Amino acid sequence: MTSAAAQLPIGIFDSGFGGLTVARAIVDLLPHEEIVYLGDTARTPYGPRPIAEVREYTLQCLDWLIEQGVKILVIACNTGSSAALRDARERYHVPIVEVILPAARKAAATSRDRQVGVICTQATATSRSYNDALVASPVHLVTQVCPLFVPFVEEGITTGDALMAVAEEYLNPLKQQQVDTLILGCTHYPLLSGVISYIMGDEVTLVSSADECARATFATLQRLGLLREGGHRPSRRFVTTGDPARFEGLGSRLMGGFVSGVQQVGLD
Ligand code: DGL
Repeated sequence: MTSAAAQLPIGIFDSGFGGLTVARAIVDLLPHEEIVYLGDTARTPYGPRPIAEVREYTLQCLDWLIEQGVKILVIACNTGSSAALRDARERYHVPIVEVILPAARKAAATSRDRQVGVICTQATATSRSYNDALVASPVHLVTQVCPLFVPFVEEGITTGDALMAVAEEYLNPLKQQQVDTLILGCTHYPLLSGVISYIMGDEVTLVSSADECARATFATLQRLGLLREGGHRPSRRFVTTGDPARFEGLGSRLMGGFVSGVQQVGLD
């Protein structure tokens, strides 16, 4: 017998499409769970915005998810987590899982030579959230901001010469610093992992904050006795602050048939 709380959906938030990489990883691990996904595509990208603004937008989105009656919040956005995690923990009475700590832990455990890179948005870099997460670890962290990666993904571009040229420019300094492990410190970046891994080479291990966050979600629900039992077809709601047709089109293109029935919500 599972509790009534266990029947509630998992609330997942990202500034746009990137958190779908987390949502898909969660569905792979937890196929019986209901999910409500909110992508703030009307205001994406968050990365170049001041941290105070990212905090305000993130909390608005999390408030909305809480109003839907979720049993756990998944902040599937490194930028949003960097800006608002502490406030969110204070503000809500449901468990919160985010992307940064699970990815940082995995990278520290994986790195052979203690030379770890993180690629992320400007706001995540400015917040130094990955430096904080690794402060007690012996690894040396090299941070590289990749401002054009999110716009490429939001346009549905994951291959091609223009992307390759930009990626070379961002990633070559990390190769020169001989990182052996690279954290994809933005949930949009797993969609670019073909290009990233091609440039970095096989000897560099990529750590996806999306996969690590999904495992942390599983572990948290297991620990709290909040896993939903099978037997019912779970509902999966996808909601955007932007254009639902565009979200559904791009979401399906990037994620296969995973995204459908997208609804729109206004938060302002
Ligand atoms: N996907 C978000 C992250 O993990 C950032 C995207 C944005 O700049 O809006 O940081």
